[in-house]
Amino acid sequence: MAESTRAFPKHFLWGAATAAHQVEGKMHNQWSVWELENARSLAAQAEYHVSDYPSWERIKKLAKTPANYVSGRATQHYDRYEEDFDLLESMNMNAYRFSIEWSRVEPEEGVWNAEAVEHYRDYLESLKSRGIEPVVTLFHFTLPVWFAQKGGFAKRRNVDYFVRFAERIMSEIGRSVRYVITINEPEVYTFMSYSTQTWPPAESSWLRSFTVLNNLVYAHKKAAKALRRVNARYKISVAKNCVYFYPGDTSWISRLSANVAQYVQDDYWVKKFARHSDFLGLNYYQSQRLLGTRIHNSEAADYSDVNWMVAPGDLQYVLEHWSRRYRKPIMITENGIADEQDTLRQNWIQQTILAMQQAMKEGVELIGYLHWSLTDNFEWGYGHWPRFGLAAIDYKTGERTLRPSAQWFGRVIKKLRGI
Ligand code: BGC
Repeated sequence: MAESTRAFPKHFLWGAATAAHQVEGKMHNQWSVWELENARSLAAQAEYHVSDYPSWERIKKLAKTPANYVSGRATQHYDRYEEDFDLLESMNMNAYRFSIEWSRVEPEEGVWNAEAVEHYRDYLESLKSRGIEPVVTLFHFTLPVWFAQKGGFAKRRNVDYFVRFAERIMSEIGRSVRYVITINEPEVYTFMSYSTQTWPPAESSWLRSFTVLNNLVYAHKKAAKALRRVNARYKISVAKNCVYFYPGDTSWISRLSANVAQYVQDDYWVKKFARHSDFLGLNYYQSQRLLGTRIHNSEAADYSDVNWMVAPGDLQYVLEHWSRRYRKPIMITENGIADEQDTLRQNWIQQTILAMQQAMKEGVELIGYLHWSLTDNFEWGYGHWPRFGLAAIDYKTGERTLRPSAQWFGRVIKKLRGI
């Protein structure tokens, strides 16, 4: 990876990402309520949903256990964040993306929790003292219970509550922050929560999904405007997930299907969010191959523990496509692999670095790479068994251990940053 040093700009952000609900522990929000209500049925359905995954034999015991689906203490990050920041430093990272949990800060409508605000103030201070650039997310799938009970983002008039939260928390503790992500993966949230009945509130209406997603566009636009009043120099975006769809043969039908799929899940929405963003936050995890009108992924490829086709190099095409179309700087706000045994992660990261270099050579303005995730964490509807962490978590003791791939990555970052 010799020539890589030249390809990455001096101030490039090298870091990792997390989200509050997945790591902090002891939550009370719409997700934690839903987990308790659904843990038993999720465990009972596991065999039906995931028994064809390559990891099944390894994970089945946990996947069939109701406690797996309850976030509970998670990784205890709320109390142990200093240890996690040590991990960032030990990997020579200079950036970290995390989310501020709205349900902690405003547990009841209009009631501001001073202790939680103080906590996040200290949290940001600690990052600053370590020279780590924070990338703050304001909505990463979880909502205060009171807000969800009002209908959440399904009602356009509720958007104002979110904007009020965003403006207030950032003016109290985040004036010196530079990068703000208003919403994480608006289309994934909407799809899983309102179309496929997978996440709370587990509805199944395409029409409703369309409404919610449009409300999230509106929420981003309004929040961005309010945040610019707090600090005109903020760099604001959403973090948008992008699946790369490609035709598996040269037939017109496969090519058309791939283009339509890309447009519907990606371009149609990116264009709406991009208008009100200073850069583009990109989450990339997987590609899908289309044969005719159906997804038919390669049998020769590797698959991660959550059965996603492993195709890290395709990131290059996504970067080039977004850059050509939207002409904005791009930050990779999430990218990684569920790989408990750590046999695929190092190659994933290596191919990703090459893809970023190629894209930059083609003129893409890339400003950072944040790996998902810093540590293993609570993976939403799958629960605790998927292991996305650079550091492994022992859920019994809370002990963190950098995986071999992470130790390697830390050495590579050192070289790439020239430190
Ligand atoms: C989400 C994360 C999640 C990751 C892996 C993204 O969809 O933003 O919260 O853990 O992908 O599934």
